[in-house]
Amino acid sequence: MRVLGLETSCDETAAAVVEVTDAASERPRGRALSDVVHTQAAVHERFGGVVPELASRDHLQRALPIVDEALRRAGCELRDLDGISVTRGPGLVGALLVGVQVGKSLSLASGVPLAGVNHIEGHLLAVLLADDAPAPPWLGLVVSGGHTSLYEVRALGQYRALGHTLDDAAGEAFDKVAKLLGLPYPGGAHIDRLARGGDPRAFDFPRGLSRRSKAAYDFSFSGLKTAVLTQVRERGVPEDLADLCASFQEAVCDALTLRALRAARAARLPALVLCGGVAANSRLRALAAERCAAEGIAAYLPPPQLCTDNGAMIAMAGAHRLARGERASLDMSADPGWRL
Ligand code: KG4
Ligand code: ZN
Repeated sequence: MRVLGLETSCDETAAAVVEVTDAASERPRGRALSDVVHTQAAVHERFGGVVPELASRDHLQRALPIVDEALRRAGCELRDLDGISVTRGPGLVGALLVGVQVGKSLSLASGVPLAGVNHIEGHLLAVLLADDAPAPPWLGLVVSGGHTSLYEVRALGQYRALGHTLDDAAGEAFDKVAKLLGLPYPGGAHIDRLARGGDPRAFDFPRGLSRRSKAAYDFSFSGLKTAVLTQVRERGVPEDLADLCASFQEAVCDALTLRALRAARAARLPALVLCGGVAANSRLRALAAERCAAEGIAAYLPPPQLCTDNGAMIAMAGAHRLARGERASLDMSADPGWRL
């Protein structure tokens, strides 16, 4: 089955054509025939965060050319497709609306069936495009700029939320701390790079809720952000950022992996899958692999380009829904607050 995936929920305009085998099964496999991602980082950089109105406008200008490019690189035309899959939510309403309208228009014009999918489901299923993928059940740790959650994937299409962040998303914490240190937006990858030469024990930063038992699988990063802010207020931004970046990053990765493993153990899940932009972080990947190995849990770490927002993961999430007979109607709209 050949599916076009279209993603416009935040600040990436992305389209991909994916060839999916065994799409209706519990272990579909996907191979991207094309994967085009246009990031708006340059549009939002001087504001230090995403400006929703500018995001919508940029999606509007880019969406159709990017779909064309994805089709061209895959060597196919609209009528060769078996499905079109578009992100319906969660995300910025204006940004989502652009993708939803483009998806509906393409479907109406071509007669190709349409699916409207959840962005988080896309992140969870991105692993099915990697060389190595688990069959359900597994535990998904979704860590991105907008989300930090743990989901039990019981079967494809059946998800149970185990925990969420109570304040900032992990990526948001990375980006805010980066801004504080004068690094460009989005700052996660910059902190990752600077942390490599640093000592993660140089600063003893708080681990959020990790020692509290009540919210066993929830996260909190606002205290950590404040601790970095206090440090910078008292002593200024250090010339060499390595130790500060490494210590901050260690606190985030420690809190994330601790809770993920706690949840995997309690729900007896044999595998942990990392997804979302922060899953590209080198320390998070290393620590997750190490802690999983120690507990006999299989760790799946999709390549970074599958972790950050892309159209292929949206195609994958739509493919299994379409293969099972789901169809979105033309009165489908964006759902900015859609909870998986
Ligand atoms: O999944 P994504 O592309 O978009 C959202 O759905 O939010 O995630 C973007 C987030 C940003 O906050 C960015 O700073 C973070 O992922 N990120 C990283 C790294 N690469 C991207 N954070 C830490 N380390 C990285 N290497
Ligand atoms: Zn995302």
